[in-house]
Amino acid sequence: MALAIRVHEQSLSPDQAALRDEALLGFAASPKSMSPKFFYDHAGSQLFELICRQPEYYPTRTEETILRLAAANIAALAGRNVSLIELGSGASRKIRLLLESLRPARYLGIDISREFLHASTHRLAADYRWLDVHALCADFSQPLKLPAEALGGQPLAFFPGSSIGNFDPEQARDFLRNLHQALPVGSGLLIGVDLVKDRAVLERAYNDEAGVTALFNLNLLERIRRELDSDIDPRRFQHRAFYNEAESRIEMHLVSPQAQQVRIENRVFDFAAGESLHTENSYKYTPASFRELAADCGFASAAMWRDPAQLFSVHFLRRE
Ligand code: AVI
Repeated sequence: MALAIRVHEQSLSPDQAALRDEALLGFAASPKSMSPKFFYDHAGSQLFELICRQPEYYPTRTEETILRLAAANIAALAGRNVSLIELGSGASRKIRLLLESLRPARYLGIDISREFLHASTHRLAADYRWLDVHALCADFSQPLKLPAEALGGQPLAFFPGSSIGNFDPEQARDFLRNLHQALPVGSGLLIGVDLVKDRAVLERAYNDEAGVTALFNLNLLERIRRELDSDIDPRRFQHRAFYNEAESRIEMHLVSPQAQQVRIENRVFDFAAGESLHTENSYKYTPASFRELAADCGFASAAMWRDPAQLFSVHFLRRE
């Protein structure tokens, strides 16, 4: 007879508990809001990969082109015996491009998802046999302690994709200051930063024709419906993304076209007609505004590259 295991779940997993705490707090706030970090469950991560392939979403392919064209300059600035530290690990083609052009001695992948981190670092170790691969499961938006064995030679941290844009200015400052603390003097920081530009180009990138960004945004409600005790119906909300020029940021919202009540556990939340849940900010910088932020946190600009249409920038900073 086959062995039968009966699993009894009495409480939420740590991920679900964090989602519940955030949703209860965010739905009670005025205006209603949630952190974009809750987008990235398995389905959300797959939808994000799909966003990166949409013709309107220029950041991914533009950054990759910049990195390819600047590879020799980056290698010269990075120096010899490089320890390449990737903040958010291993999935993109960009890290492979750097591994091939820099030929670092060591690679350290840092990611909050243990499962994802293991899969991506194992893949890199299998594909680059000459590379000394390290993995650190950590939340890099918090103060970091980097393992000394992974930091030999010339450390170079890599934070692509303009992920820094999803932090508000205070969080971006905290993030850079934490990184400054964690890295030895003279380390490099290679960071992708999306640029301030024409509103139409920005708004198209977050409102793609195929509707993938809308699905990505609505997946947050889908998660609440699936993972928590809630009667929320994602079909009763609409995706909205627009450029807030005064704040230099794209804002994403989930709008309730009609008045409705939503229950999460034993709490009921009222949405007025047209009221929204603010789900993401994506800040855009000018080269000067980003340099100023970096300098304020102890990173000096060594180089910066842009594509000819000036859609996106990659900065090489030096930890002072
Ligand atoms: C991950 N991050 C930099 C993306 C961005 O552009 O802010 C997330 C995203 N949201 C909607 N589309 C892409």
